[in-house]
Amino acid sequence: MKKELIKIIKKAGKILKKGYYSNKDVTFKAKKDLVTKYDVAVENYLKAKFTKKFKEFNIIAEESDNANIEFNDSIIIDPIDGTTNFVNGVPHTAISVGVYKDKKPYLAIVYNPILDELYEAKIGKGAFLNGKQLKVSDETELQKALLATGFPYTSGSNEDDLNDVVKKIKDILPLCQDLRRLGSASIDLCLVARGTFEGYYEMNLKPWDVSAGVLILSEAGGKITNINGDEYNLFEDKYIVATNGKIHDELIKNLNL
Ligand code: IPD
Ligand code: CA
Ligand code: CA
Repeated sequence: MKKELIKIIKKAGKILKKGYYSNKDVTFKAKKDLVTKYDVAVENYLKAKFTKKFKEFNIIAEESDNANIEFNDSIIIDPIDGTTNFVNGVPHTAISVGVYKDKKPYLAIVYNPILDELYEAKIGKGAFLNGKQLKVSDETELQKALLATGFPYTSGSNEDDLNDVVKKIKDILPLCQDLRRLGSASIDLCLVARGTFEGYYEMNLKPWDVSAGVLILSEAGGKITNINGDEYNLFEDKYIVATNGKIHDELIKNLNL
């Protein structure tokens, strides 16, 4: 299945790449949350191919109505993760596809067609970037850790969320090497898998933002939990905390000050 999945996603990457270098019509789903015709085109392409090839799976996808779809044997798609980057020409943008069997991660692909970086993982078989095996960083000190985070779309409308973002930055920034906000949750997780970042945390993510990245990171030796340090639930948890494993407890402690 993985080979076929990659073939389809690479073709969809051509749609994303063409859009990246073209003029885009932007529609706003909410004050900060935007969508383009390319998000829809990539999603429709993937859905049509996956429905034909992988009949035993249902599909949960960002730009679709998922109301009547039960998560179980499911393919979870973010057609363009990092849409704000995509629209503004920042090259951190990717197609993210996570395949779940019995609600458990099975296969994962995150493909950035602009940088031509394809991250992939299969449960129990390791994680790879363009064929090269990935391993998380060995850094054990939070003070030396480069971290990443993201800002939720609700920061424009929900004061509690905005205050929480600011408080956590104030608490964490003095305690780490530095903090990045690259604008694509799926890629952030892959960069922890790659050893570029030691850790990453963010609130209010949707299942499609992280469905693939969580498997890629865990197959690279990383750790993913909610903010209490318990198993992360794609559909229910407000916060994701994802690290190389070695700074996890200290990061969790300081996110809960
Ligand atoms: C967004 C990106 C971003 C994160 C947002 C997500 P989108 O996804 O992953 O990094 O901070 O919370 O919604 O809207 O570009 O698919
Ligand atoms: Ca996303
Ligand atoms: Ca998206």
